[in-house]
Amino acid sequence: MQGSDQAEVLFSPLSLPGGAVLRNRIAKASMEENLAAEGQIPDHRLRRLYRIWGAGGAGLLITGNVMVDARAMTGPAGVVLDARAPLEPFAAWAAAARSGGAAAWMQLNHPGRQVRADLGGVAWSPSAVPISGAGGFARPVAMDEADIRAVTAMFASGAARAIEAGFTGVQIHAAHGYLLSQFLSPLANRRTDRWGGPIERRARLLIEVVRAVRAAMPAGAALGVKLNTADFQRGGFRQEDALRVVELLAEHPVDLVELSGGSAERPAMHGVLDGADDRTRAREAYFLDLARDVVAASPIPIMLTGGIRTAAGAREVLRAGVAVVGVATALAQCPTLPREWSLGRPGPGPLPASAASDKATVSAAKQAAVRWILRRTAARGAAPESTDPDAALRLDARRRARLLRRYRGWLAGRTPPRDG
Ligand SMILES: Cc1cc2nc3c(=O)[nH]c(=O)nc-3n(C[C@H](O)[C@H](O)[C@H](O)COP(=O)(O)O)c2cc1C
Repeated sequence: MQGSDQAEVLFSPLSLPGGAVLRNRIAKASMEENLAAEGQIPDHRLRRLYRIWGAGGAGLLITGNVMVDARAMTGPAGVVLDARAPLEPFAAWAAAARSGGAAAWMQLNHPGRQVRADLGGVAWSPSAVPISGAGGFARPVAMDEADIRAVTAMFASGAARAIEAGFTGVQIHAAHGYLLSQFLSPLANRRTDRWGGPIERRARLLIEVVRAVRAAMPAGAALGVKLNTADFQRGGFRQEDALRVVELLAEHPVDLVELSGGSAERPAMHGVLDGADDRTRAREAYFLDLARDVVAASPIPIMLTGGIRTAAGAREVLRAGVAVVGVATALAQCPTLPREWSLGRPGPGPLPASAASDKATVSAAKQAAVRWILRRTAARGAAPESTDPDAALRLDARRRARLLRRYRGWLAGRTPPRDG
């Protein structure tokens, strides 16, 4: 197809299987904003950020991951939507996200064993297998049947409440090494019961969650799943597993599968890939090659995220049969990126690189830089020109200490210790 035809596709509407319509093919991928107010609820800062993104022209805005269990957080300023959270702040957030005409989905997540030790709380996991190659995480506890039932109910309750608040859909986070992704991984999931073993059993929790979430939502609410193409670990979740999981998901009313890759052990989603993947890193869409077979086989529309920053890159992804391009970093740098693309203007250049040589620090610094941009945008109404990732990481550490005290105090006050 010629470039102009592809431009048409990029800005053409997409009808999802459940009937929801996205006004174009550009989605803001999920980014944990780290901007929750006291009580882990959204406030004016998140409202402002999403109003800005909404006006920027994307077809779909997916929120940063919202925790379904207040005791299991990916960071101390994360948003929690459990059965006890007040709904009004979420309703105001949903209204802000929808104010520009985009669909607004809440991403629901349980981090499983990817919980930092200093956060306290619980680090549930399919098996008691600690995270390798990345320090600071809590010791994981293998889940029993009651825990599995409880977490399924938490996702369902979170979804029902998100839609009640006014979000038009939810996305279940089953990528990046979090709980559902841990169940999918043969390295993290060593269970010999019905929740472990071959991929069909490792996928059982995800499928149960999809079923429970769908049943908890009214007809017309959209349901998405974020899934890895691969974990990039020897013996881990592979592309053929992803193919099978998409096949299993297709038996249920799922509207969109977003493909990504990596985990805390291998932060591929931040472009930090191993030597063999340098070729992939040099190109815009990190996971396009791995996604091709899934795209070809999937009856569910596919969204692809990772490294996309130009309209030309986005068009290449659509040419491969992908239905929606997911953009995170570039949409933090330039919240009006869809508008810029539609006017033929270039987006921002890549973020400055960290001076660090180890992958974990490079990835942490990149995330800190993006979070810094989001904070500034929420505070000032416009994204800053640029940022130094290593300075952002130092700033993040100081801010985190303060937010950690606030979160732990809130959690302790909210949940009386069991021993009275
Ligand atoms: C600061 C930051 C926070 C992120 N938080 C989330 C998250 O909450 N949920 C998620 O699925 N992905 C999260 N991601 C990953 C992005 O959705 C995306 O997969 C990744 O950044 C690659 O896309 P990009 O190259 O367009 O940034 C985050 C990325 C960044 C930079």
